[in-house]
Amino acid sequence: MEKKSLSDISCKGRRVLMRVDFNVPLDDNGNITNDKRIVEALPSIRTITESGGRLILMSHLGRPKGKVVPELSLAPVAKRLAELLDTQVVMADDCIGTEAMQQALTLQDGDIMLLENLRFHPEEEKNDPEFARELASMGEIYVNDAFGTAHRAHASTEGICHFVQPSVAGRLIEKELKYLGQALDAPERPFVAILGGAKISGKIDVLENLFNKVDTVLIGGAMIFTFFRAQGYAVGKSLVEDDKVELAAHLLQTAREKNITMLLPEDVVAASEFSADARTSTVGVDSIPDDMMGLDIGPQTVDRYSQEILNAKTVVWNGPMGVFEIEAFAHGTIAVAQALADATAKGTISIVGGGDSAAAVMKAGLESGMTHISTGGGASLEFLEGKVLPGIAALND
Ligand code: 3PG
Repeated sequence: MEKKSLSDISCKGRRVLMRVDFNVPLDDNGNITNDKRIVEALPSIRTITESGGRLILMSHLGRPKGKVVPELSLAPVAKRLAELLDTQVVMADDCIGTEAMQQALTLQDGDIMLLENLRFHPEEEKNDPEFARELASMGEIYVNDAFGTAHRAHASTEGICHFVQPSVAGRLIEKELKYLGQALDAPERPFVAILGGAKISGKIDVLENLFNKVDTVLIGGAMIFTFFRAQGYAVGKSLVEDDKVELAAHLLQTAREKNITMLLPEDVVAASEFSADARTSTVGVDSIPDDMMGLDIGPQTVDRYSQEILNAKTVVWNGPMGVFEIEAFAHGTIAVAQALADATAKGTISIVGGGDSAAAVMKAGLESGMTHISTGGGASLEFLEGKVLPGIAALND
């Protein structure tokens, strides 16, 4: 998708309204626990301010459902951004209205202002045209750098493009499209996809789209048990989507027809219950005891998957291999992250979808070992599904 970008416009002396995704995780005291999304917006922010643009940033935070929720104010983000840039960031009390507009009009070249949480207004998620028009009136140029929210057709991502021109992509969106796009359109082969997560239902579209592109798919996460049920194995108390068993059989058949190597685990770590202190044992997938549930891939599977990863030239990873939040079931996911980092060191292009897989890579301390970790959870998934992201489609060609 060829879209205009910051390189195609001049920002000097103009109010640049930029949508970012500052939807960062907060702890119970309102402290930011991971600032990756703020850090990843810095290249666009610097490009605009250093060229004399007057920057107005806007974002959502959490899901306040159209009401003002003080705990979801973007004020802590303004503070963190000011620290990262070592400059002042003006925080507006609202994202629309006379006061915010007055503040925007007093900005000087290179100044930065952050509008309050867009989702405090129900019109944002409804993509209300009047709200989009009001947001648009704050700026003279619109930039979208919110890759993480590009799959949402909201007023600040899609609607706004009808009211402010030019509408261009920021540096982060460019970077995400470069890595994710190249992997899907012109991958160096062998191209391996690692797919995990609890449910097949959340991954059907990705699987079907990737079946037309990859050489090998490695499957992990609880969704393996629906595949095993389709193959006739007893899976004990493991999670199975009963209504997706037929679909699982169909996916296995499709992989065979398309000549794709689709690997399922050979062994799993099973536990008596879903708990950190449960009794565990490593068992073959054909011998999961009736009173146990599989919660991670086993060591033989880790070896097999690691070999495939090390032989690959391009790897896309979406979804953990097990319940990595619990130490006893984190090994498979961490080991896959390690294999991916080792492969990357030897020249493999590794692309990690956002959300849980990105969190797992962080937990393993391997962030710098990957070629690209997406800032979008839902957005990267929809991109891998082959869907058009409305926030990007709306930008100038
Ligand atoms: C995300 O964290 O995936 C994005 O910020 C989008 O958030 P949403 O799922 O609440 O729309």
